[in-house]
Amino acid sequence: MIYPSVILSWLVLSITASPITQSQSSGLSVPIRKYVNVTSGYNLINAGQSRARSFRDRTTSRHVSDKKRQAVPVVNEAITYIAEVAVGADNQTFQLLVDTGSSNTWVGANASYTYVPSSSSVWTDDIVIVDYGSGYFFGYEYYDTVALSNDLVIKNQSIGVADFQQGFTSMDGILGIGPVDLTDGTILGALAPVTTVPTVSDNLFTQGAISTEVVGVSFVPTTGSADDPEGELIFGDVGGSARYTGQITYTPKETDYWGITQSISYGGAEIMASAIGVVDTGTTLNYIPTDAFNAYINSTGGIFDQATGLYEITEEQYNSLDDLVFTIGGVDFPLTPNAQIWPRSLNENIGGEEGKIYLAAVATDPIEDLNFINGYVFLERYFSIFDNSNSRIGFAATPYTNATSN
Ligand SMILES: *[C@@H]1O[C@H](CO)[C@@H](O)[C@H](O)[C@H]1NC(C)=O
Ligand SMILES: *[C@@H]1O[C@H](CO)[C@@H](O)[C@H](O)[C@H]1NC(C)=O
Ligand SMILES: *[C@@H]1O[C@H](CO)[C@@H](O)[C@H](O)[C@H]1NC(C)=O
Ligand SMILES: *[C@@H]1O[C@H](CO)[C@@H](O)[C@H](O)[C@H]1NC(C)=O
Ligand SMILES: *[C@@H]1O[C@H](CO)[C@@H](O)[C@H](O)[C@H]1NC(C)=O
Ligand SMILES: *[C@@H]1O[C@H](CO)[C@@H](O)[C@H](O)[C@H]1NC(C)=O
Repeated sequence: MIYPSVILSWLVLSITASPITQSQSSGLSVPIRKYVNVTSGYNLINAGQSRARSFRDRTTSRHVSDKKRQAVPVVNEAITYIAEVAVGADNQTFQLLVDTGSSNTWVGANASYTYVPSSSSVWTDDIVIVDYGSGYFFGYEYYDTVALSNDLVIKNQSIGVADFQQGFTSMDGILGIGPVDLTDGTILGALAPVTTVPTVSDNLFTQGAISTEVVGVSFVPTTGSADDPEGELIFGDVGGSARYTGQITYTPKETDYWGITQSISYGGAEIMASAIGVVDTGTTLNYIPTDAFNAYINSTGGIFDQATGLYEITEEQYNSLDDLVFTIGGVDFPLTPNAQIWPRSLNENIGGEEGKIYLAAVATDPIEDLNFINGYVFLERYFSIFDNSNSRIGFAATPYTNATSN
């Protein structure tokens, strides 16, 4: 089918149907919808690389200079997962990007749909500024009621209300489910210094809505068809959820971010020794340090594709791909050949051609620690568990681990 390119290029998929039955876990479920707003492979690649740089930079300096902020790309394209959240006594709804790579929750990204204070709103006069590498926002800090679902209602949640933002276009703001330490340095207190502000997960736990401070994330592969299943967040005990199969492997969190020690191998050979990588729901592709990336691409036979900025492989090379294996906590988490490629139904979105095959991995800089990201390409194949109570991350297989949807 031929569509006018303008429609194709602004394609937004809103995915609603769900073949998976209600989660059986005792945790509380929040449905999340997937939006695809990608018009160029290069924009997608740059957004993730900026984010990888900001993860590294934070280890050397907490505060972001104006210069650095202006250097970020304006076009932040991605495949994003969005949760609908109700704020205030009037339940004003916002579509918020689910982000494990940051911890402030804020609204007001869409200047045509601003936050309307209600009887539950408390204005603080404190200023909030958060840098995301691929964008930033600043505004005022409020306290208000935030409902993630009927059972997940938070009183007095700290929320930012944006005065200005750059890089957030297909959403109303962010639901930050990263560790609380990432809020340090984001608030400029008008009356007194503010260090960290409790996250939504912190408040759900301290207010008794959940018995353990855990968020399970279920992303599901893109098929491009209208009946793609929905994703799900599970707050609290994830045990028994139909979203995963088999055992959960846990590994300790190593940085302010959701960073964990991993090694990578391909075709039975280790291509990256143990290093710390960030598990990030806000990044679309997998980002791999240069040397490991080169070894991987070399083995696949991939050729750089000018049109998309990704590496292209032939059908024959695809048929002989090996698993790309992430070893975490002593357990192998293989990405099957199908899990390593960009969804072919979305080739036009990245400037690619129908029927061609592109690898969904990108090189970062040569250093290793904090320089690779498990993006949604990984997370749509493995259920992930962000456990604040025990400062660890868990992974488990899912019904989609071996899916051939791409
Ligand atoms: C807001 O939603 C809550 C449930 O989350 C409900 O109890 C309350 O009545 C709603 N308020 C309004 C004004 O709709
Ligand atoms: C709301 O939360 C903030 C920060 O946690 C706290 O300083 C403030 O006292 C709380 N207000 C109420 C009414 O609970
Ligand atoms: C921004 O808000 C306006 C008014 O509600 C709405 O029509 C528009 O679709 C929104 N834009 C995005 C990108 O969500
Ligand atoms: C898609 O992203 C582009 C670039 O960031 C933005 O200009 C556009 O408004 C977005 N489209 C929608 C429908 O959100
Ligand atoms: C690339 O592959 C060739 C064999 O096909 C091998 O000789 C070379 O060492 C490889 N280079 C890297 C960087 O792995
Ligand atoms: C995926 O396929 C591999 C190889 O056939 C098999 O060992 C593994 O158990 C499968 N994983 C799941 C979650 O089905």
